[in-house]
Amino acid sequence: MAGRIPKQFIDELVTRSDIVDVIDARVPLKKAGKDYKACCPFHEEKTPSFTVSVDKQFYHCFGCGAHGSAIGFLMDYDHMSFVEAVEELAARAGLTIPREAGAIFEKDKDTGADLIEIVREAARFYRSQLREHPQSGRAVEYLKGRGITGEIAHEFGLGFAPDGWDNLLQALGKDDNSREILARAGLAVKKDSGGYYDRFRDRIMFPIEDYRGRVVAFGGRILDKGEPKYLNSPETSLFHKGRELYGLYHAREAIKRENRVLVVEGYMDVVALAQFGVDFAVATLGTATTHDHLDRLFRHAPDVIFCFDGDRAGREAAWRALENALPVLREGRQVSFLFLPEGEDPDTLVRKEGREAFLARLKQAMPLPNYLFDNLSRQVDLGRLDGRARLVELARPLLSKMPQGVLRQMMLDRLAELSRMDPGKLPVLAGQQQAAGPPKSATRRAQGPQEPPSIVRRAIALLLQHPNLAHQLKDEVNLGDLDLPGIPLLSELCALLKNSPGLNTASIIENFRDSEHKHHLSKLAFWEYPSQVEDLEAEFIGVIGRLGETSAKQKTARLLQKQDAGGLNQAEKDELARLLSLKSEHSRLSPSRH
Ligand code: GTP
Ligand code: MN
Repeated sequence: MAGRIPKQFIDELVTRSDIVDVIDARVPLKKAGKDYKACCPFHEEKTPSFTVSVDKQFYHCFGCGAHGSAIGFLMDYDHMSFVEAVEELAARAGLTIPREAGAIFEKDKDTGADLIEIVREAARFYRSQLREHPQSGRAVEYLKGRGITGEIAHEFGLGFAPDGWDNLLQALGKDDNSREILARAGLAVKKDSGGYYDRFRDRIMFPIEDYRGRVVAFGGRILDKGEPKYLNSPETSLFHKGRELYGLYHAREAIKRENRVLVVEGYMDVVALAQFGVDFAVATLGTATTHDHLDRLFRHAPDVIFCFDGDRAGREAAWRALENALPVLREGRQVSFLFLPEGEDPDTLVRKEGREAFLARLKQAMPLPNYLFDNLSRQVDLGRLDGRARLVELARPLLSKMPQGVLRQMMLDRLAELSRMDPGKLPVLAGQQQAAGPPKSATRRAQGPQEPPSIVRRAIALLLQHPNLAHQLKDEVNLGDLDLPGIPLLSELCALLKNSPGLNTASIIENFRDSEHKHHLSKLAFWEYPSQVEDLEAEFIGVIGRLGETSAKQKTARLLQKQDAGGLNQAEKDELARLLSLKSEHSRLSPSRH
């Protein structure tokens, strides 16, 4: 992974991309007045409430509340990660992504186009060898011996790397440059003495596809007994084990249909399950399940079922998956665990029992909360007071990894029940944030656009929907001192628009992608300003003016208070005099105002 993508580039990308093109290519849009409409792709509906605004470069569904920029749409609709969505838009716009320094692989500046090309060629080569190579009989026999049909082998693009040190190099490494690319793609290895040799020899080849279905790496299984049993491509600029999942691209439609995804441990498991019609399975690549994996999985389906061997290694892997899942668990997302009988894996089991029995097992998978509490309870003696205290201690670090919300609260309640502790005392234990206020979702609801708009909210909405109004902001208006809800956000927004003029609504919100304000802003982007307001510029000037007055009033009060308490220095006295004269002027001009 190269360095961070600079903010200015995201600004430019979102300003230059056309969200209508991006969405229309996936969900055909119809023009409706200034905007475009369609039936929402994120929920079932018969009349279109999914609206795409050209001006704002933002979409919003009035039915289900889905919303976002072009980047957000690609993430939600095509299940891309943020970086992937940026890459996709940049490719469309013909822009190269600059990377900031401080990268993990500083050298790795290439876009990977040459690597993609050669890995695709290699996949073709390995497939052809499975049919044509004089030794291919052994490979075909091996696959048959494992019960793999020709059809499924074809579907997964399985191939054969023949025995020998330079089969692939002979085919694709015609010159120094292409040999060097093969090495960078992890398919050839450079010798210390100079020269190259094939990394994969005498192995069944499983091509690994990325989120767009491009082959980026391989897993190779040895035909006979030997070590290592599986050999994977090394990490390259295209391939990161901790991000990719074997079979995900292939399974994406089935996952959508099932609204769930099954995670298994092996390549062969994925292939065998698919052959038996359990086509929504993916595999990690011999690594623990990472955050990135879970993020990616949850972008495809809300229900993730992990399938592990019943042995100790399987249980350890499951626990690690649990720990990594906690931070991304929110309401609506579910993780379950299925443990198989010892000595079985999904491949052997589905062949033995068949599809229906396997699916029935899935139904029995243990929900994460149960697994968590079962496992912890087994480590302590709940019959003893100090045992129950230990349970609380064990659960505390785990539950505090969870985002705030209903699910976390319910798990805390369950912990209270098991430990027979007063639930009111637990939240404090499970992380400081919990005590800080109502859960986020409640705050969000309270900020919904249906309430009477506060003056600060009006200012934010106007700036967000008509960023050009920022020209009207005068330097001397210092809103930062104001003590009103929403002021920090308004100040941040003003500063952003001053530093980066020319942003549109979508690119403003992209600047707040990692901020707690993002949700609020997204809602205000489509908030309808009271219809009697026609001259937006005058309205904005008025709103800012009133904020200025409030600010002066608050400052006056503060100074008066200080005066009573012990006196002011000269500068403060001058300031107070100025403010008081301003105030009398205001009250003369607009006596009706508070
Ligand atoms: P089969 O024996 O072919 O059925 O393999 P399996 O899919 O049952 O594999 P196993 O349960 O032994 O391992 C699960 C996964 O771990 C594999 O699909 C690989 O991704 C990975 N793995 C297994 N053995 C090795 C190894 O020797 N080296 C590496 N790097 N990964 C391995
Ligand atoms: Mn196996």
